[in-house]
Amino acid sequence: MPDRYDLPPGFRWGVATAAYQIEGAVGEDGRGPSVWDTFTARPGAIRDGHTGAVACDHYHRWPEDIALLQGLGVDGYRFSIAWPRIQPTGAGTVNPAGLAFYDRLVDALLDAGITPLPTLFHWDLPQALEDNGGWLDRDTAHRFADYATVMADRLGDRVPAWITLNEPFVHTVFGYALGIHAPGRTLMFDALPAAHHQLLAHGLAATALHDRGLDVLISNNLTPVGPASPSPADTAAARAYDALHNRLFTDPLLLGRYPDLTALGVPDDIFGAVRPGDLDLIHTPGLDGLGVNYYNPTRVAAPTDPALPFDLLDIPDVPHTAFGWPVVPEGLRQLLLDLRQSYGSSLPPITITENGCSVTEETAPDHPRITFLATHLDALAQAAAEGIDIRGYYTWSLLDNFEWAEGYHQRFGLVHVDFTTQRRTPRASYAWYRDLIVAHRARRSM
Ligand code: FCB
Repeated sequence: MPDRYDLPPGFRWGVATAAYQIEGAVGEDGRGPSVWDTFTARPGAIRDGHTGAVACDHYHRWPEDIALLQGLGVDGYRFSIAWPRIQPTGAGTVNPAGLAFYDRLVDALLDAGITPLPTLFHWDLPQALEDNGGWLDRDTAHRFADYATVMADRLGDRVPAWITLNEPFVHTVFGYALGIHAPGRTLMFDALPAAHHQLLAHGLAATALHDRGLDVLISNNLTPVGPASPSPADTAAARAYDALHNRLFTDPLLLGRYPDLTALGVPDDIFGAVRPGDLDLIHTPGLDGLGVNYYNPTRVAAPTDPALPFDLLDIPDVPHTAFGWPVVPEGLRQLLLDLRQSYGSSLPPITITENGCSVTEETAPDHPRITFLATHLDALAQAAAEGIDIRGYYTWSLLDNFEWAEGYHQRFGLVHVDFTTQRRTPRASYAWYRDLIVAHRARRSM
């Protein structure tokens, strides 16, 4: 087993955040409302009625947060741009104050020696677009390409690589199928046109970014899927779930076709959403890197309710995070080997764009998080030793933040945030990660 520092030269260490989870200032400087402002106002939608209205107040405290990044010694910082700050209604008029905010952020990161890695869409769709159908409406893909072009023209001279979308699987399923996230629709499989339109948006934006000489990634939430037993019924259920969670979002990008979704009752053209030429638009721009967000594997059994194609089961006999997610570091290695098996030479270089865990606030001195990160980095180093081309690792997250439906209850930060005072306190995992980065650099320069 290689040690955790045994990653390739030029490997980038980073941390990740997202706009709605940290920025706050939702009504300032001309920002328009997003689906998350609307959804968090819905009674019962979010645990204890929390909202992102203030969050970590990063919109005002960003210099302090950049100082934290600098203290950590990261090479890169993954953040997201709030589309409603740039185009308050999601189309047309650009808000200069919104652009100026990200301009300052990017300049300050570069001054600190940190490469910015922006995500263009981390779920905060302008509400005006949702009012026209959101991601169920094909036109949203074209609006996204326009917005991507605005950002590339403004920051492309300083930002070499861009992530188009964050986790279209989670946004589609939690946001449009199950109603757990904004925009809170409960369409079940009828939600899948939202997946196609996000992928189309990615393809159109990728072409615009490539035309400007910029690198393009997408961050997918991926999970290795295993059947609960070797029975044919469990195996078929696992295959169906793998198609929905993973392949629906990687096959069109890397192979130019959708997986077989008939086991889910979904036709090839995804209920008429897929038009001739769309798959070329998604596939042809190519990816300069695949962003992988990994949290846990998924164990699947044949359904007990015949209305559903599968049951999702817990993974017993492993530790679980404060969120209740099973901790299986080996799943990360497995996932990367599975990707190579499925896509071969069509698989672009990998960047881990999220990986981390929530721990209960009382847990001192942050041992579960350090163990989580150390064991996952061991698994990553193992995959690299087995020939997977891995370019970087961005842990989720720099700060405790607004964890969507869970509000402020799940704490994923290397830095603790007191949400009453906004005081930031680096945890033991912050010092651990900082030391790991220093040690890796020292080893490389020997
Ligand atoms: C991912 C999201 C990210 C964060 C982590 C815990 O699915 O992309 O915003 O909430 O989970």
